[in-house]
Amino acid sequence: MCGIVGYIGAEPVVPILIDGLKRLEYRGYDSAGIAVVSKDKIFIQKQLGKISNLEDSLKNTHLNSTLGIGHTRWATHGAPSVVNAHPHTDCSGDIAVIHNGIIENYAGLRQELMAKGHVFRSETDTEVLAHLIEEFYNGDLEQAVRYAINEVVGTYGILVVSNKQPDRIIAARNGSPLLIGIGTNTYMAASDATAVIRYTRDVVYLDDGELAVLTRDQYITKTIRNRRTNKHVEKISFDVDRIEKDGFDHFMLKEIFEQPQTLRDTMRGRVQAENGTVRLGGLSDHLQQLLDAKRILLTACGTSWHASLIGEYIFEDFLRIPVEVDYASEFRYRNPVLDQDSVVIVVSQSGETADTLAALREAKKRRAPVFGICNVVGSSIARETVAGVYIHAGPEVGVASTKAFTAQVTTLIMMTILMARKKWMSREEGRRILTELEAIPDKISEVLKESDSIREIAKKYADSRNFLYLGRGYNFPVALEGALKMKEISYIHAEGYPAAEMKHGPIALIDENMPVVFIAIKDSTYEKVLSNIEEVKARGGRVIAIASAGDEKISEKADHVIFLPETLEFLSPLVTIIPLQLLAYHAAVLRGCNVDQPRNLAKSVTVE
Ligand code: G6P
Repeated sequence: MCGIVGYIGAEPVVPILIDGLKRLEYRGYDSAGIAVVSKDKIFIQKQLGKISNLEDSLKNTHLNSTLGIGHTRWATHGAPSVVNAHPHTDCSGDIAVIHNGIIENYAGLRQELMAKGHVFRSETDTEVLAHLIEEFYNGDLEQAVRYAINEVVGTYGILVVSNKQPDRIIAARNGSPLLIGIGTNTYMAASDATAVIRYTRDVVYLDDGELAVLTRDQYITKTIRNRRTNKHVEKISFDVDRIEKDGFDHFMLKEIFEQPQTLRDTMRGRVQAENGTVRLGGLSDHLQQLLDAKRILLTACGTSWHASLIGEYIFEDFLRIPVEVDYASEFRYRNPVLDQDSVVIVVSQSGETADTLAALREAKKRRAPVFGICNVVGSSIARETVAGVYIHAGPEVGVASTKAFTAQVTTLIMMTILMARKKWMSREEGRRILTELEAIPDKISEVLKESDSIREIAKKYADSRNFLYLGRGYNFPVALEGALKMKEISYIHAEGYPAAEMKHGPIALIDENMPVVFIAIKDSTYEKVLSNIEEVKARGGRVIAIASAGDEKISEKADHVIFLPETLEFLSPLVTIIPLQLLAYHAAVLRGCNVDQPRNLAKSVTVE
C-alpha cells in the first residue's frame, strides 16, 4: 500500500526521502516519486518499480534543498505508470501533493475543475486535490488545503508543498495513517513510523479530520475547521535494526525464524504459569464486558481471519459461548445482528486494514463494545477500539504474514485462559496449560531445524500447479493458512479444506500430480485423517504429512513426513503452521519469486 514521507529541516532532503521511502518499501508499491521545493520551483522526479530506480535517476541532479515529500504508490485509480505516480501537481506546477487513500467523488470534482479550465495529466483520483488546492490558493497554502479537503469525500493522508510558500509542509488525515516526527528544528511526516525513526523517536499521531503545518521552527495541529488541537508526543520504542534482515535472505524467513522470540515477547509479563493466571493490562478496565458477553464476533481479513477462526474454536471450547467469525468486508455490509450482549473483537496485524476498520466502526455504530487485537501500536484500529491487546510481534515486513499469525493465536489463547480462569478453570488447570504454552517457543525452535529437509521436499513439488491442504478441528484453519501462504508467495494455486470435506469435491482433482499436505498430528481426529490419507494414496496423490514425533504408522502411508514435537491439541496450530510457512517459503524461492513483495499484494490494504 502507498507510503508517505516528508521532511523539513537543515539537511539535504533527497537522501532523507530516499531512505524513508526504502523503509516504506515493505508496504508494497509499484512506483515512487519525490517533490523537492526551492524558492522558485518544485523539482519532481518519479519512476516505475523499485526505489533504487528513483535513486539512480536522481544521481546527477545535485539538489541541495532541505524541504521535500516522497511517495510509494500502489495503484488504485489508473495503472501503475510514471504519469500516475505521485507527487501530482496543479496546472502551474507550483503545488505538489502526495496522497494515500481514495477520493470517492473525484470524477465529479474532475469534471467541475476541467470546466473551469484545469488541465489534468494523470488518471488518478489524487490529481483533483492538486487542482482544488490551486483553485483555492490565495496566498495561504494551509487555508487552500483546508478548503480543498472540505470538498472531498473519501479517505486521505496527504502532504502538500508549494514553491509559493517554500517554508512549510501541510499534512492532513482522514482515514489513512499519518504521523509527525519531531526533531530539533526538523520535522518529518510519514504514513508509518519506520520512515522516521532514524531521525527521531518522538512522534505525534494525527487523528481523522486533523491537519498539521510543519515549518522549520514549529509544528501546529488543527482540526480541518481551523481549531488548534493539543497532541500528546509519543515515544517509538522499537529499533531500526529490528526491521532489517539480520542476515537472512528475506524478511519472511527472518520473521519465520523469529517466532520463538516473538511468542516470548507476546507472553512476556502476561503469562504467569506458576500462578495459573494471565494478566492483560489492556483489557483490565473492560474485562467484565467480555466476561458478560453472550456471544462473541471475531472479524478480520486474510491471515488475521485465519487466526480468528482458531479463536472461534478455542473460545467455544473453553468458554462455552457462541462465537462467529466474519470476513470484515462481509460483516460491514451484511447487516449483522448485534445486541448489547454481543462483543466484537477485530483482529489485525497492521491495525489499518480498511475493511476491518470499517467493520469496527459499523459495530460501534450498532453500540457493540469492540475490542482489538493488533500489532501496530498507535494504529487506527488500536485507537478506535474500547480496549484490546497488542500482540507485540514487532514490525512485520514480509508481505505474507507469519509471526503476526502465531502471535495473534497466542493472544487469543491468553485471552481465553484469562476469561476461563475467571469463569470456571482451576488454578491447577491454568498452570498446566500455561506451562505448556510457555514451552511452545522451544518446540517451534525444534521445527525450525527442519528447514533444510523441508526445502528438499519443496524441491520435489516446486513445479506443481496445485496444492491441497487438509486438516481438521484446530488444524482446519491451519490448512487454510498454509494454502494461503503457498499461493501468496509462490503463485502455485493452493486450497485449504477440512479433511473430511475432501470427498465432497476436491477428491476429483487428485492424481499423481497433486501434492496433498495433511496435518495429521495425534489429536482427537487423528484416525479419521489417516483414512483421508488412504483415500488420497488410493488415487495416486502425493502425501506430505505433518505428524507427531514418533508416529511410525504415518511413515508407512505418506510420501514425506515432517515430525513435530507434541503439545496440547488447542495449542498445536502454533507448531503445525511452522512447516507450512517454510514449505511455501522454499517453494517460492525455488521458483524465483519475490518472496517479500509478491506481485499484486500489499502488506497493508488501506483501501476497500
Ligand atoms: C493483506 C496482507 C495479509 C494480511 C491482510 C490483513 O492482505 O497481505 O498478510 O493478513 O492484509 O491485514 P491485517 O494487517 O489487518 O492483519
